Amino acid sequence: MANDDQFKKVISHAKEYGYVFQSSEIYDGLSAVYDYAQNGAELKKNIRDYWWKAMVQMNEHIVGIDAAIFMHPTTWKASGHVDAFNDPLIDNKDSKKRYRADVLIEDYCAKIEGKIDKEVAKAEKRFGDAFNKEEFVSTNPRVLGYLEKINEILSRMGKSLEAEDLADVKALIEELEIADPLTGSRNWTDVKQFNLMFGTKLGASAEHAMDLYLRPETAQGIFVNFLNVQKTGRMKIPFGIAQTGKAFRNEIVARQFIFRMREFEQMEMQFFIKPGTQKEWFDYWKETRMKWHNSLGLGEENYRFHDHDKLAHYADAATDIEFKFPFGFKELEGIHSRTDFDLKQHEEFSGKKLQYFDHEDNASYTPYVLETSIGLDRMFLAVFSNALVEEALDNNTTRTVLKLPAVLAPVKAAILPLVKKDGLPDIAKQILEDLKWDFNVDYDEKDAVGRRYRRQDANGTPFCITVDHDTLEDNTVTIRHRDTMEQKRVKITDLKDIIKAEVDVKHWLQKMK
Ligand code: GAP
Repeated sequence: MANDDQFKKVISHAKEYGYVFQSSEIYDGLSAVYDYAQNGAELKKNIRDYWWKAMVQMNEHIVGIDAAIFMHPTTWKASGHVDAFNDPLIDNKDSKKRYRADVLIEDYCAKIEGKIDKEVAKAEKRFGDAFNKEEFVSTNPRVLGYLEKINEILSRMGKSLEAEDLADVKALIEELEIADPLTGSRNWTDVKQFNLMFGTKLGASAEHAMDLYLRPETAQGIFVNFLNVQKTGRMKIPFGIAQTGKAFRNEIVARQFIFRMREFEQMEMQFFIKPGTQKEWFDYWKETRMKWHNSLGLGEENYRFHDHDKLAHYADAATDIEFKFPFGFKELEGIHSRTDFDLKQHEEFSGKKLQYFDHEDNASYTPYVLETSIGLDRMFLAVFSNALVEEALDNNTTRTVLKLPAVLAPVKAAILPLVKKDGLPDIAKQILEDLKWDFNVDYDEKDAVGRRYRRQDANGTPFCITVDHDTLEDNTVTIRHRDTMEQKRVKITDLKDIIKAEVDVKHWLQKMK
């Protein structure tokens, strides 16, 4: 299936099966804002829990907090967001469409990358088993030429953005003859900076109202609480503070469904370390976060690191974990070595000391910070789009299956009486009553059992449990596995253990070891 078609399918499946709805749809929706529906809310909660368990519960040196969305406005001056949280925007004078200048240039480079992929595919065909991709990419003159061009473009863009030389960013767009992707027009305005924070007001009367921002990241709620948590939790460096919560950004290029939203949720962890140890911890968290992703089994080939050339104002090293979404490899998570920038800034702006006294060294210092930051909605999209498959069956039909990792699936098992009579619904409901103490389970008696299986497959339910006339005789049921469609006869009393073995967080998180 073409990637575009696959992505459209993902969006319509998410709506049809109660995962994601457009916000305020009856009023024609609100752009780049989405609601999670009955199944989506469960999947999102399960992803959040999976992150929290790995990060907080399994780490004796990491604690979790839940800071407020509203923060004192000086927070955002100190963090640099008031002055530097900008996107470089450019308008097309003919189409009146607005774009991020850096995204237009990056998309141009992605097209060159596409040419490299084509060269590789051609050579792979020509050389067969003897083909060595690494060698080919590092020696083929055409590929090397493409790579050099990409490098040149991105490094010039990085330097111009760093130096706030927006005229050169526009010049680059013109030199590369980049056109409006919708209309082909090359009639561009100058590039301008646009601040992404949403403003709001606190207070009852206009004269006394205080200007506030909706937080654009959860991280600052952790920095301003650093000393409170360290003291009350008697935390010793190295230690981490984790939190999940909403963040808001007035994204201009808000496309691609829940990939780029104006209201979204982050799962962030700031790890406070001794200055000088940041390289070691950067490597540690890169590896640990990739292990977390791989424990879910979405395919190691679908992840890659992308180290930053252009660093944010607060970082001395940064990498993205990119995931292969239906529209290509894009950032899923950021790992940033943030130095002591944030704590020092908050010290300066608040006038309060934010230092740590190290008993071993008998000295105080401002800790350095290693941050891991992942968008919950992006993780949802990664999991959901990866899970949706159309499978050809032996009988020349196809089935749509949502192969969600069982630990994340919204409904763990559906209990289906074969017919709506002969006492079968009563037994099925009794099984439901017993299992619901441990799992989110569903009861379904409508339609033929085959159709019910298909419905549960498309919903991502890992198990279907069918109660039939034999159940009346021997207290056994059929349990059907979503991915293999294999059916087994098992005792009702064994159901809990069978389901638990596959959906239990421990079973999945142990793969990180
Ligand atoms: N505290 C660091 C920070 O916020 P970021 O790279 O701007 O870093 C971290 O954001 C993660 O948040 C991203 O990797 C992405 O997963 C998610 N994210 C950022 N902007 C988003 C948006 N508009 N919609 C959905 N997720 C977003």
